Amino acid sequence: MRLKDKVAIVTGAASGIGRATALTFAREGARVVVADLNEDGASATAATIGDAAFALRLDVADEAGWAEATRRTADRFGRLDILANVAGIGFPGTILDLTMDQWNRMIAVNLTGVMLGCQAAIRTIAATGGSGAIVNVSSLAGLIGISDVAGYCGSKGGVTTLSKSVALYCAEQGLPIRCVSVHPTYVDSEMLDPVADAVGGRQAMLEAMARLVPIGRIATPQDIANAILFAASDEAAMMSGHALVIDGAQLAGPSSAHTKG
Ligand SMILES: NC(=O)c1ccc[n+]([C@@H]2O[C@H](COP(=O)([O-])OP(=O)(O)OC[C@H]3O[C@@H](n4cnc5c(N)ncnc54)[C@H](O)[C@@H]3O)[C@@H](O)[C@H]2O)c1
Repeated sequence: MRLKDKVAIVTGAASGIGRATALTFAREGARVVVADLNEDGASATAATIGDAAFALRLDVADEAGWAEATRRTADRFGRLDILANVAGIGFPGTILDLTMDQWNRMIAVNLTGVMLGCQAAIRTIAATGGSGAIVNVSSLAGLIGISDVAGYCGSKGGVTTLSKSVALYCAEQGLPIRCVSVHPTYVDSEMLDPVADAVGGRQAMLEAMARLVPIGRIATPQDIANAILFAASDEAAMMSGHALVIDGAQLAGPSSAHTKG
């Protein structure tokens, strides 16, 4: 019961990492607001949890939506302690492939959505006497450049330093709120369905991606949910402003190829 008595909002909780995070938080004793643009999917996640959760339709890029979400959270559960900003979208393409529509949508959801969530959560946690953390899901693409996902890199890189700024602000204000960004490698979630279709099936995609990860497999949504759980829990009380990399050693450095003849 690592989140006993905590109240959390999880965005993107209809699918993939967000759903795994909501279920993990609930298993660890939290009451959970299951937020997503996909209302049916959010309702299914909340129904799996039961009375300790409710579903909410939220477009993270909509400022008024955040005001409503945090008001309903405080009305129902009396407080807020944790926000996991997991919702995200991605369009492939190099810098010259990128359309304005794709760029604007990725910035709106991946970066503006996280910013609005941080604002709403800080205000609500402070107003309701909560204490805990904001955990923002970025990506390896928020730490390094990848040539064929240029817009996604731009949006996720913003999350990395925004999270550090939020961490410093909360610390300077004496607020009991930490902020951590999480940077997964490839995760076998619904987000990769179009990639699987493009490369001739899921197994072919998983094998190709696994070759890029030194430990030999890509992440599961549960791998990332476990990291988010730790960052959100009081066990991570001294961790704020940190970029938590969950990548099976992908960014650790070059392989030992130069010693293999
Ligand atoms: N899957 C990966 O390989 C991978 C790797 C690194 C980082 N990430 C990041 O992890 C996060 C979760 O991704 P996932 O793999 O679980 O993807 P997913 O597609 O399975 O889930 C994303 C969820 O976000 C929701 N969503 C999309 N736009 C929204 C909006 N405007 N408002 C509210 N909800 C919205 C979707 O409905 C969906 O339920 C994303 O931020 C993604 O960028 C994913």
